[in-house]
Amino acid sequence: MVAGMQLTVREIPPCYAPSMAGRFLLQIPGPTNVPERLLDAMRLGTINPRGPEFPPLLAGLQAGLRPLFGTSDGEILLAAGSGSAALEGALVNVLAPGDEVLVASNGFFGAWLAGLAGRLGLVVHHLEVPPGTAVPAELVEARLREDVHRRIQAVTVVHNETSTGVTNDLAAIRRALDAAGHPALFVADTISSLGCVDVRFDDWGVDVAACASQKGLMLPPGLAISCVSPRALAIGEHGGSPRGYYDWKELQAHRHGGLLPVTPPTPLLFGLRESLRMLEEEGLPSVYARHARQAEAIRRAVVAWGLTLLCRDRTAASASVTALELPAGLDAGAVVDAVRRANVEVITGIEPLHESVLRIGHMGWLNETEVLAALGGIELGLRDAGFRVRPASGLQAAQEWFFESSADRVAAR
Ligand SMILES: Cc1ncc(COP(=O)(O)O)c(C=O)c1O
Repeated sequence: MVAGMQLTVREIPPCYAPSMAGRFLLQIPGPTNVPERLLDAMRLGTINPRGPEFPPLLAGLQAGLRPLFGTSDGEILLAAGSGSAALEGALVNVLAPGDEVLVASNGFFGAWLAGLAGRLGLVVHHLEVPPGTAVPAELVEARLREDVHRRIQAVTVVHNETSTGVTNDLAAIRRALDAAGHPALFVADTISSLGCVDVRFDDWGVDVAACASQKGLMLPPGLAISCVSPRALAIGEHGGSPRGYYDWKELQAHRHGGLLPVTPPTPLLFGLRESLRMLEEEGLPSVYARHARQAEAIRRAVVAWGLTLLCRDRTAASASVTALELPAGLDAGAVVDAVRRANVEVITGIEPLHESVLRIGHMGWLNETEVLAALGGIELGLRDAGFRVRPASGLQAAQEWFFESSADRVAAR
């Protein structure tokens, strides 16, 4: 090998064989690592979902989720399904085919919502901004001001765009609706933000927040979680599209003696009960601060490697997922494979960024040492895939940040 030569993917043999021993770190942006405590809780398995244990279990989960959503009067609804079930529910319960919806999007999941709305027969006004940027609230305001006949009935935004690692400013978008004096409902996808960053459903005047179990809540996939405002519930009472399974009226357990209409995934509910306990024990401010600190460590590592963050505006950078751009000639799929050989799983971008972008998930149950281990594995993989990363450069930047930002360590010095 010529000193200083940049190796291509094909020239270099894999130097790191996957180890059969030790932990494999799942650093994708959900599903996340499931803590053993939650796996144990889920071993409680099944109970009679029509028996006396069920109503208090469900009521406890609803009460426990309220602080995460930042709501006192939003109704929490749970159903088996992935996050998209909650998203579909958010649309079909308040909008009928032919109704108009403004979908503000800055990446794959915003566009996913636009696609979903179109398939449900809604008229979609798609306000698309380039990946890597946040949705400017001024654009939403301008678009709503143009809607002089108030035909748009809902505005949808993804809080944390998992495909690009950009967090949209929901407070600013709320202000945009207010500034335009527009009565549209405000629908937010909080799938990769809930449990990772502060969500303020009531303060931001959100009408529907759709979420799922497999990200900040640290659980396996399978539970769709919605938070719905009294206003949206009232619209859904008599309006919306024809619907069956995901009808909020059916999912409002208090109308049905505390029970759900169909068999609920009780192991996941036991897991959620434990997850909420864990989050409460750590304290939500600490949980959010931990996510923010670890995200910053990862961003500093990326910069130290000489790579570029897809999110150009640091103030909009996500606390739960980081997307980075790879140099031309370095294929994201090959990097993922190489990182996997170092026992860390990261993931490529989503089309059209699947070849050029790498995404690192850092949400849920994660500590500093695991972040460092993951970064170390990514460095091995980057080198293995042919990118000449200076050994430990990212690790050093991340460690320095951890030292710098830790109140305990600063106090101990
Ligand atoms: C922001 C966001 N929205 C929607 C989805 C789709 O959710 P699900 O796959 O649970 O249906 C995801 C999944 O990663 C997501 O991150």
